[in-house]
Order: sequence, then structure tokens, then C-alpha cells
Amino acid sequence: MIEKKIGNTPLRRCEHLSNKFSTNIYIKDESCNPGKSSKDRAAYFMLEEAIKGNKIQPGGTIVEASSGNTGISIALMAKELGCRAKIFVSKSCSEEKRALLEAYGASIEICDNSFGLHVFNSTQYQAQAYAANHENAYFTNQYYNSANIKAHYKTTGPEIWEQTNHQVTHVIAGVGTGGTISGIGRYLKEQKKNIKILGVEPTNSVYQTFLEHGKVENTGVVHDAIEGIGRTFIPGTFDVQAVDAIYQIDAESSKRAAQDYRADTDQLIGFSSAAVLAAVEQNLSHMNFKHDDHVVLYFPDHGDRYLQKLYNNNQQETTKAFDIL
Ligand SMILES: Cc1ncc(COP(=O)(O)O)c(C=O)c1O
Repeated sequence: MIEKKIGNTPLRRCEHLSNKFSTNIYIKDESCNPGKSSKDRAAYFMLEEAIKGNKIQPGGTIVEASSGNTGISIALMAKELGCRAKIFVSKSCSEEKRALLEAYGASIEICDNSFGLHVFNSTQYQAQAYAANHENAYFTNQYYNSANIKAHYKTTGPEIWEQTNHQVTHVIAGVGTGGTISGIGRYLKEQKKNIKILGVEPTNSVYQTFLEHGKVENTGVVHDAIEGIGRTFIPGTFDVQAVDAIYQIDAESSKRAAQDYRADTDQLIGFSSAAVLAAVEQNLSHMNFKHDDHVVLYFPDHGDRYLQKLYNNNQQETTKAFDIL
């Protein structure tokens, strides 16, 4: 059964980055989950709660709005449950993820954007409307489902705490729904209040403003496209109490960080992992690591989901303002 294999992903010390940033750097490698991303955790917890509440029956359809990874996890689990998966992705979802969704048997709908439940042509609105209008269909709704945070509170947070022998000082993670950073942050701050929980989002995403000012102005400016992270609205699954700071990074710097990392280590990393790396590089003096700190970089998936976007140098730049996740 898939749930037995979810989580307990490796935490590896990275010598290259430890030398580069003059501290102890570890990578939490979430590509080691069965669906090859961190989103297995949230998908499993959301489906488990739905099953307990009799909201999903065999033969039914599980519906989600996803930048791809949650959809892939749900598609895998739907099969085991004897259900179908219907996944609404935005048009900027990578070719690799679309192909995987279809290979895992999901039916996909491509929407213009993912601007939230109140925008007609967004993934979230379309997913919610589909579930509301079809018998035996259930919308897992990762942006407002507390099981999303709970997954990381119950699993990822404790894993990081144990794997660092309680020495972790910083966790740095990309913010999409906010479930990952909120769950990890909530758990780790209960263990030790001064552990720094730092989020990363694309330039012009709204989390930084919300964290600093408690509200979001609608400026009409849309953030850079980095798959999996960044929002135009604040979802229910972002817990401001669990996060110390949010850093912004642009898509081009993230892409460069992925390519530099490949040149230095021969490893391919995902787009949002590269964003975390680029944010650390650009804000090193602000983050002010000490030599004996233990810094965990959260890598939600693998570079093989972004071969075209990150590692094909012939590819024209595709990140446009409206073209987000
Ligand atoms: C590649 C990637 N990175 C980061 C995230 C953000 O995680 P969260 O939604 O828990 O904030 C996601 C979420 O889908 C993702 O797919």
C-alpha cells in the first residue's frame, strides 16, 4: 500500500552548499516519495480524512486543482481506491507533469490560471464547480483543507527534528498552498521557539506583503511563474504564526541556480527547489547563518519534471505574467 512508503525521506548533508554558505546545509529530498514529490503527504492526509467522512466511494471521482504534483499524487492514490482522478491544471503546468498525470490515468483539464475560488477561469473555481455538479465527485481542495497542514505537522516536521538530532536552526521552503511551511513551522516552533522558518515565493507573489502588513493589495501585477509556488491570494492553508520571513526570487535567477547546481553536483533539481537555492544565495547576508547552524533546504521534487523549463538551453523564456500556476 502506498501510504506505507510515503514520508521518511532522506535528509542529506550537502558538502558543496555547506562549503559555499559556510554553515551546515542539509537537503530534505522529497523526490524519494512514491509519487516523487512532497505532495504525496498532503494528498494522503486529505484522502484519509475524506474516506473517514465517507466522502469518497469506489467508482467516484477525486477532483483537485493542482500545479501538477498534488494531482499526480492523487491520481496514484485514486487508482488504489478504485476511483477516478480529475485534475485541473493551469496552462503553465510542465509538459512532463501533464504527461505523468495522463500516464497515471488522471483526466486533466487545462485552465487559464490558478487565481483562486472566485476567478471563473481558474483551476480552483473549475475544480470546485466540477465536483459540485457531478454525482460522487469530491473536491479535496488543498488550498483550504487543514489536512494539508496536518500532513506536514504530523510527518515532515517530526522527521526534520529527528533527522537533525534536534539541532535544526533554519528551514527554508517554497510556499504554494502554504501547507508545507505551515505544518513544518508549527511543529518545529513547538519544539524550539527560535527555529527560523523561512519561506520563498516568486517576485510579486502576495505572501511577503501579507506576512509583513497583514493584508494584500490587489495591484493587478502577477508574480513570476515558478511551478508550485507563489499566489495571487492568501489560501486558508497559510499559517502566518508559523513563518518568520518570506523571501522573493525571480524565475530567471532560479533557473540559473538550477543550472549552476547541476554544473557543481551533477544533480537535477526542481524549479521550486532551485528558487529556494537562489533565494539563499541572494539573501545570504540577511539570513546571517552561523558556522554551527543546521540549515534545512526543502526540495519538494526532482529536476526531471522540468527538463524543458530548466535544462533545455534552446527553450525560449516562457514565463509571462498571466502564465502562472
Ligand atoms: C514543486 C512544488 N514546490 C513547492 C510547492 C509548495 O508546497 P505547498 O503547497 O505545501 O506550499 C508545491 C506544491 O504543489 C510544489 O508542487
